[in-house]
Amino acid sequence: MTLNRMHLTALALILAIVWAFASAPPALPDHQRSSTTATIPIGLVLETVARENDVVRSLYTKSIVGAGLKAGLRFDENWKNADVQAGPLPALFLREAALSIQQNPVRLALFLGSHQPISDANQFSGSQTAIFEKILTTGEAEHFFDPGLKRWTAMFPDYASVMACVKCHNEHPDSPKKDWVLDDVMGATTWSYPHETVSPDEFVNIIDAVRGGFRDAYRSYLQEIESFDNKPEIGTQWPSDGYAVPDEETFMKEFEQRISADTLNTLLESRR
Ligand code: HEC
Repeated sequence: MTLNRMHLTALALILAIVWAFASAPPALPDHQRSSTTATIPIGLVLETVARENDVVRSLYTKSIVGAGLKAGLRFDENWKNADVQAGPLPALFLREAALSIQQNPVRLALFLGSHQPISDANQFSGSQTAIFEKILTTGEAEHFFDPGLKRWTAMFPDYASVMACVKCHNEHPDSPKKDWVLDDVMGATTWSYPHETVSPDEFVNIIDAVRGGFRDAYRSYLQEIESFDNKPEIGTQWPSDGYAVPDEETFMKEFEQRISADTLNTLLESRR
């Protein structure tokens, strides 16, 4: 049992107790979902996973990619090719996490899209296109029901927060846009779920699926390192300490320390 799971099991237990004392009926399996058990609005759930994603992405971008480049590590869009000795770029770390989440029985979906994507696969389609136009002018997140996909959806603007975003996208041969500037909205992280409300149990399962996705994405990077000629040390050290990367537990522990209090408070408040 991983630390992550233990935390979530404890959370589930707390919620179960809170739930029992609120004298509500027991949680029902998916096909028996009713409005009495599923009372947490999906918007709150998607905002929670979006914050979890912001924290892991920032940790990976700054402490692994940013510090790693200085320590001599490489990151590349073709990181999975046998002849490329590099780790995933932040967008590809996210894609790796999205693939893992997709395989989880929890029916949450994650997509990083753009109106000017380097990769055609990241182009918005359907009702997301028009809603993204709105985000471009307001810079605010949008919550809506996607009638085509029949999913409750939330799109969060993805900003060019550091020059590295601007520089790499402008210089990329496949980029349709070469004049990105700092603080531009470059795309949107899009989360969706098939139900309008969830039960506390479902909420915990969704967070578990998301964290599992981050763990799997980081693990893929560590596995890739095994094929490097010059392997960085994998343990408790970070690239800022030298030619080293944290192991899975060290990485996930740092991530969880940064976000868990916030998520736990949201879980508890969602019961009020
Ligand atoms: C070293 C190069 C590099 C850096 C740095 C980088 N990106 Fe990207 N980004 C890419 C590549 C390559 C893709 C396409 C990956 C794929 O095949 O899906 C991508 C994909 C994306 C996408 C999905 C749409 C698209 O263009 O395909 C968004 C949105 C995005 N990046 C935003 C950012 C932001 C915001 C930052 C900074 C926080 C950033 N990127 C940093 C290279 C980079």
